[in-house]
Amino acid sequence: MQPIVSLTAVQKWYDEGAVRRHVLHGVDMHVHAGERVALVGKSGSGKSSLLNIISGIDGADAGSVIVGGHDLNGMDETARTHFRRTSIGFVFQFFNLVPTLSVLENVLLPLELNGIVGKPAHARAMALLADVGLADRAATAPDRLSGGEQQRVAVARALVHEPPLILADEPTGNLDSDTGMVILQLLTDLAHQRGHALLMVTHSREVAASADRVVRIQAGHLVADDAGTLL
Ligand SMILES: Nc1ncnc2c1ncn2[C@@H]1O[C@H](COP(=O)(O)OP(=O)(O)OP(=O)(O)O)[C@@H](O)[C@H]1O
Ligand SMILES: [Mg+2]
Repeated sequence: MQPIVSLTAVQKWYDEGAVRRHVLHGVDMHVHAGERVALVGKSGSGKSSLLNIISGIDGADAGSVIVGGHDLNGMDETARTHFRRTSIGFVFQFFNLVPTLSVLENVLLPLELNGIVGKPAHARAMALLADVGLADRAATAPDRLSGGEQQRVAVARALVHEPPLILADEPTGNLDSDTGMVILQLLTDLAHQRGHALLMVTHSREVAASADRVVRIQAGHLVADDAGTLL
């Protein structure tokens, strides 16, 4: 089966005045359907840059980026936006919930963007909120929830439109470690049950250990791709 993420010789650099900062040096990486992969590496090593390229938020400067069968290099901005809405679910470090919408409305958002509205949308969103243990808070404003609860809502929002790939950039970085572990377990379990692939950036060994595979990045190079040699 074709991998859900297929990166070949991906390069990324940023030009700052006369200085070129080379951030990714020929990255090859594959994530298979339903696989849970932890991406680890020091601050500044290129983890978020890599996720931004996989999600089409940013373009690679060289190499091939194929996600869910789509060649992202060949896509214009409109196509990339459509690709992101249908194929990707995101969980961010700082939750990124819309403060003016209720918890339920936040979870409905990805469905609305995919043209799914009315009763079927409502039923799916409420089922996901039940899965993350927050069905009784559906009408609440996000800022009334604790950080851990907000991240549960973000998990529901990332999964509700059933994207084949979930990307999580330090999803527990802003939570205490116990809460973080519970959320991560929830995210990895739900992704697994539903057959979504999950690529998560983390600084935590414990979190990395809950993945099927660990990929380490060092100064823009993938240096190892085997949980056994890393942890
Ligand atoms: N827009 C940009 N312009 C210039 N340099 C950038 C830009 N975005 C990232 N960089 C640089 O690219 C390098 C990799 O950044 P990146 O955000 O991918 O690291 P990271 O591994 O996610 O780090 P962290 O763990 O701190 O989040 C850093 O040196 C950063 O300063
Ligand atoms: Mg980062």
